[in-house]
Amino acid sequence: MSPERVVVVADPIDREALGRLKSGPCRVVDASADPASLPAQLAEAWALIVRSRTKVTADLLGKAPHLALVARAGVGVDNIDMAATAARGIQVVNAPSAATQSVAELTVAFYLLLVRGLYPFISSTKAGKWERGTHGRELSGKTVGFVGYGRIARAVAARLVPFGAKAIAFDPFVPKTVDGTEMVPLDALLERADIVSVHAAVTAENRHLLDTRAFGRMKPGAFLVNVARGALVDEAALLSALASGRLAGAALDVFEVEPPMNKELLANPNVIPTPHLGASTHDAQARAGTDTVDEVLRALRGEPLTALVAAPGGTR
Ligand code: MLT
Repeated sequence: MSPERVVVVADPIDREALGRLKSGPCRVVDASADPASLPAQLAEAWALIVRSRTKVTADLLGKAPHLALVARAGVGVDNIDMAATAARGIQVVNAPSAATQSVAELTVAFYLLLVRGLYPFISSTKAGKWERGTHGRELSGKTVGFVGYGRIARAVAARLVPFGAKAIAFDPFVPKTVDGTEMVPLDALLERADIVSVHAAVTAENRHLLDTRAFGRMKPGAFLVNVARGALVDEAALLSALASGRLAGAALDVFEVEPPMNKELLANPNVIPTPHLGASTHDAQARAGTDTVDEVLRALRGEPLTALVAAPGGTR
């Protein structure tokens, strides 16, 4: 009989999913409460489960001589050194659709907060003021430009229909329309969109895709929403675009460095910041845990995998 395979869980995942994994054909080592113990725990690991906290570097992989599988309980694999896993023949899987609805709903919430200009009134009312007056706009009739048109952006576009807003999209991996949304070049999108909504995976090629040049092409008074990855936006350029009035506001769930170091950006009255919460609902995390554990159990049983990640890139 082959020795029992060891699955190391590096980051906290849904408890019920963890329980199911423990009843599978493996020995589970839960290192999530003690990240410092992870390198030592990897000595016997056959599979490793991570969320985004653990950085799966070449150095960490070096501690895991028997590793065959890295499972990411989420979408982005930018915390995994994909070249290093490929070089070792280690398979990488993710949970590509677990967070779609949660991130889509957060995105729509951001649109409404920005367009209506609600954010300052929440704090001023809490501070005892009563600042009534005509303010903000409607989402109805606005054009949302999606930078990256994968699962999440498409889910947001579907939710725009009842609001009477229009969707256009740029995505080099989606050359033709998939759902009726007009696909346009990036510059055309920047020129037409009232809200530029970022939903791309980050790669070496698209770092700072939204930079001074891009902001200069956007409609005066447009908004930026980023729920994908901070590195897609040049934060210094964003601050200048907000200061000049080119952009009226931005809602950011992700930052170039997390937790964010850019105090000026956080303090800007036209910036709505949240701490990378897009996928952090109970619903999405239950789904991410279940999808990831199911995939690891398939791998343990030698069944075909359904969420293999080929290479970094693409949309979210
Ligand atoms: C994802 O890629 O799944 C989300 O950004 C959330 C996370 O990093 O866990």
